[in-house]
Amino acid sequence: MEPVKIGILGLGTVGGGTVNVLGRNAGEITRRAGRAINVHMASVRSLDKPRICDTEGMLLTTDPFEIVNAPDIDVVVELIGGSTLAKDLVLSAIRQGKHVVTANKALIAEHGNEIFSAAQAQGVTVAFEAAVAGGIPVIKALREGLAGNTIKWLAGIINGTSNFILTEMRDKGRSFDDVLAEAQKLGYAEADPTFDVEGIDAAHKLTILASIAFGIPLKFDQAYTEGMRELTTQDVEDAADLGFRIKHLGIARRAAGGIELRVHPTLIPERRLIANVDGVMNAILVNADAVGPTLYYGAGAGAEPTASAVVADLVDVVRALTTDPENRVPHLAFQADALEDIPVLPIEDVDTAYFLRLLAKDQPGVLATVTKILGEHGISIEAIVQKAPHEHGDVVPIVILTHNVIEKSLNSALAEIAGLNEIQDSIKRIRVEYLEAD
Ligand code: NDP
Ligand code: HSE
Repeated sequence: MEPVKIGILGLGTVGGGTVNVLGRNAGEITRRAGRAINVHMASVRSLDKPRICDTEGMLLTTDPFEIVNAPDIDVVVELIGGSTLAKDLVLSAIRQGKHVVTANKALIAEHGNEIFSAAQAQGVTVAFEAAVAGGIPVIKALREGLAGNTIKWLAGIINGTSNFILTEMRDKGRSFDDVLAEAQKLGYAEADPTFDVEGIDAAHKLTILASIAFGIPLKFDQAYTEGMRELTTQDVEDAADLGFRIKHLGIARRAAGGIELRVHPTLIPERRLIANVDGVMNAILVNADAVGPTLYYGAGAGAEPTASAVVADLVDVVRALTTDPENRVPHLAFQADALEDIPVLPIEDVDTAYFLRLLAKDQPGVLATVTKILGEHGISIEAIVQKAPHEHGDVVPIVILTHNVIEKSLNSALAEIAGLNEIQDSIKRIRVEYLEAD
């Protein structure tokens, strides 16, 4: 059979890695796909830039539309990133009946509903395994492997850069900026690294996972996002004293009134496997009714781990070239006309436990006043620790672990506590998840 001709838009970290993996494993890939995959064309911004891959034998252009419009290209691989030019390119490829593979989570999370509906109308596939958790085949696992289950919740470390930063800060005492610069050098970070540290990249990925898990349209604009910049070594130490680790988690849960969709720093018990996922590694814990908990672990970023997912999608697309579009695996796991528009819960309605740290004047009765206010708002306490007096004056840090509470009740209680004369500075709060397979 003739090789399938593909065009790659972007030969940076992921594009270069993809060319290398396709070249090195060409024999195995052909045996799996049934046809050879030939990188016929590729586009870059600068023709002079040094590349991590060999570009010999491919037509290089600075105009990505030249590839999208080329009649002999069967599959377009979008590895430029962003959601403007990439969107135009992908929609244009779909209109011309070409299949698309992309690693672009921003594009899928923000414009996936429009892109999948265009793809369905044209009978083409848009594959995006690399968009979530780099090399971990979690999209395939959720979409196909768990197709018999009702998924209750999933929680994941889904940004390699922020996990790398947290780990290096905790284990080696390195500064935030120093570790971020290294993550950029290693090709882990997004073009705009605030996407990594503010939780936007994780929210993109969580949006995609939630859609596939629960059969809902992509709702990125309703995801709650909190970054990890405010975390301090004091937080990490206090959490450790209580038997917890802090991870920047994406959590999607099917709750009574809707779907929880939230990204924020989270205390998790240190005995959980996922609490020990360090560096650039990612992991997604999925709790489903039939199978129970399953954990997916692997490299969340980097050239070849991500290329592994891109190439797996290419093999799937090549195998599907001859199948009837109606009988392909649906883009979002559920049939397009069976998606349910379940509401996303506002963060104030989320039910979770909390770690709190407040600085109180070292005088009698303060602790009793604080616990009384919490009690009046229906918040019960799991643990309370009064630490040694603060080195900068007559204040003592008080660390509290609450039981589960609806967030708006906690907000009201904390507003009242913060107004007490005996309480100094702002109150630190970090959500706590036990991740138990109920
Ligand atoms: P890079 O910045 O390394 O590569 C981007 C490529 O696109 C480069 O070749 C660049 O050209 C080209 N490019 C950028 N802007 C334009 C433009 N305006 N017009 C034409 N070409 C352009 O990005 P990555 O490879 O890291 O990321 C690519 C995609 O993969 C993104 O969507 C990212 O979120 C996603 N991703 C990345 C992972 C990673 O570990 N890096 C992991 C998983 C997903 P030139 O080289 O000439 O500058
Ligand atoms: N910037 C992303 C991360 C790349 O660090 O996880 C992988 O999606």
